[in-house]
Amino acid sequence: MKICICGKGGSGKSTVVALLAAELRRRRKQVLVVDSDESNAGLYWMLGFEEPPIPLMELAGGKKSIQRVLRTGFTEDGSYQEKSVLARDEFRTDDLPGTHVQRADGIGLVCIGKIHQALEGCACPMGVLSREFLKKLRTDDDEVVVVDMEAGVEHFGRGVETSVDAVLVVAEPSLESVGLAERIKALASGAGAMFAGAVLNKVSSEEIAARLAEALQLRGVRVLSAIPFRREFLQAGLEGTSLNAEPVAGEVQSLLDSVLAAAEAPEGN
Ligand SMILES: Nc1ncnc2c1ncn2[C@@H]1O[C@H](COP(=O)(O)OP(=O)(O)O)[C@@H](O)[C@H]1O
Ligand SMILES: [Mg+2]
Repeated sequence: MKICICGKGGSGKSTVVALLAAELRRRRKQVLVVDSDESNAGLYWMLGFEEPPIPLMELAGGKKSIQRVLRTGFTEDGSYQEKSVLARDEFRTDDLPGTHVQRADGIGLVCIGKIHQALEGCACPMGVLSREFLKKLRTDDDEVVVVDMEAGVEHFGRGVETSVDAVLVVAEPSLESVGLAERIKALASGAGAMFAGAVLNKVSSEEIAARLAEALQLRGVRVLSAIPFRREFLQAGLEGTSLNAEPVAGEVQSLLDSVLAAAEAPEGN
């Protein structure tokens, strides 16, 4: 099963990914987290890893070679001697080279690619690699793939969601976030992906939660759970340390139940 977490930049996508990964582990699932956000850096420490994995983009010989590597396994100048796993029609998590997957305690982390330099070109090749990676990746019955998507909606244009089982949007208390959630719902349906609904994040009071939920529901977006604003999360983000999911365990459990139910449902909502 593959679940994709979308939303506005800074809304809490990576935070929600880390919380869901911890809850999935508690349920003894195998978890693969896919970092598909080319500009965020902090997902690996939120998950408790010391270092990020080497991006898959490097396994593919860089952005210029990506299309060719996905088809043939070789870079344009033929220098990539070993046929890439990415060129196969399908692969499993275990087929990926260990250098490109960080693993600890049943959680694996892969990273599609990061933008390091000014003027290095657009992020389209990352979108292509994300889409093909998710399409070719076969999951075991007890394995759940959680994708930390780049901010905004461009990835829908690149078809990244076409092979995911459920799309979840993170909504923080802002009109911009609400509008984006509505768009993501429409785009997910257009991409043929199941839109599970929204999780509210960073809600500082019940009143704010109720107003945010109402704004989303007015736009036809189902609300699955609400994660409060937690000072410890902000502090962990500032210090670059792992997230402790314990204080929001109940909210995350009900969120995961709803997302799994949506992903397993035969038809869209
Ligand atoms: N529920 C929350 N309470 C407090 N701070 C939060 C919460 N969720 C996220 N944050 C903080 O907000 C910032 C952005 O969160 P992050 O998960 O990195 O967002 P995104 O991945 O959408 O850009 C981080 O500093 C994070 O620690
Ligand atoms: Mg992020």
